[in-house]
Amino acid sequence: MTQVREISTASGKYPVVIGSGLLRSVPRWLRHLQFSPKARLLGIVADQSVAERYAAEVEEALQEEGYQSVLMTFPSGEDSKSLRQLEGLATQASQAGLDRTSLLLTLGGGVAGDLGGFLAAVYMRGLPFVQLPTTLLAHDASVGGKVGVDHPLAKNLLGAFWPPKAVLYDVATLRTLSDEEWRNGLGELVKHGLLGDSALFEEIVSTAHALGPKFWRQVSQEQWTVWLARGIEVKARIVEQDERETGMRRLLNAGHTVGHAVEWASSYRLRHGEAVSIGLVAESRIALRLGMTSADFVYLLEASLAACGLPVTIPSDLTVERLMQAISRDKKKQGSALAMALPVAVGEVRIVEQIPIEVVQEVLTYG
Ligand SMILES: NC(=O)c1ccc[n+]([C@@H]2O[C@H](COP(=O)([O-])OP(=O)(O)OC[C@H]3O[C@@H](n4cnc5c(N)ncnc54)[C@H](O)[C@@H]3O)[C@@H](O)[C@H]2O)c1
Ligand SMILES: [Zn+2]
Repeated sequence: MTQVREISTASGKYPVVIGSGLLRSVPRWLRHLQFSPKARLLGIVADQSVAERYAAEVEEALQEEGYQSVLMTFPSGEDSKSLRQLEGLATQASQAGLDRTSLLLTLGGGVAGDLGGFLAAVYMRGLPFVQLPTTLLAHDASVGGKVGVDHPLAKNLLGAFWPPKAVLYDVATLRTLSDEEWRNGLGELVKHGLLGDSALFEEIVSTAHALGPKFWRQVSQEQWTVWLARGIEVKARIVEQDERETGMRRLLNAGHTVGHAVEWASSYRLRHGEAVSIGLVAESRIALRLGMTSADFVYLLEASLAACGLPVTIPSDLTVERLMQAISRDKKKQGSALAMALPVAVGEVRIVEQIPIEVVQEVLTYG
């Protein structure tokens, strides 16, 4: 079973294809997209650990269909989202002879997509690229057209809007993810349900209740295909209406104001999706304090995320002072008031402008 969603924004139109075994059908999709093998050298960008697991499968499939490809790798992990690695990949690309007629394939998680996509945006003033996501979190990263690298002063400081020509999401690759990486992606998937597909949220939570911890390993690839398609649907609907993040796209920041603070204060010990889960609960408490939701919803949200194996409370070693330091920095960026996307019901997140910083501090202090 394969699901296809065509994304259509001002800067481009591309299909997101989700299913099992898609890595083998990359050449078929390339032909479908009118990228013929003739005189076209393909560059595959992957981190070393993903390359060891999955590059051969893609390379063989391409070779069988007459495509020539070269594998370009970088060390696994967020640290590689840097200008230094971008330059390293450009060196590999240039030495391998990639030119304006080439196409890049980014194979891996959000880091490969962001870094490889940014290489595609700037190498020889821009090459087409196709994303081959291999993490659960990449369902978020591969839709929306944002690519880029980090700077020592801030994450994602350097980047571009450079949509792929296609996203081919092979759910069979998810099998080899660590539990930590499953949780990391699950935080964002559940967030997408929470803000735009209450049935998705409820299905994931009831499955987690029924199957218990690490339920993700017992869920079939068909089921993951459907869930991912629905999570992507939520994000797609929003980015289609607001590609450049001036309005609705802010809804996607639910859980992220407190989440980013938790991530930063823990020195990134907590993974992004885990921090988002903690952030969603804290931000629903802020909504409660502002009289926008009920205590029942806060409890339901907390119990649901916990049932999914996600953390829901701020680790005790993170002080409120440190969290507020990060949140105040966020506030400074926005001007005088703090705006947040607050969860208020299953299926509803509201943008609230002008949240008094004292309310946030109170909630982080007393819960
Ligand atoms: N562009 C966007 O809109 C957007 C949105 C959300 C997140 N992001 C970015 O995504 C990045 C995080 O993505 P990520 O969590 O996928 O990180 P990642 O790409 O570093 O992958 C996480 C780890 O999983 C490993 N891995 C990947 N696929 C695997 C597989 N199938 N089996 C086993 N191991 C595998 C990788 O080697 C890596 O160690 C961040 O840099 C974040 O800023 C971007
Ligand atoms: Zn996020």
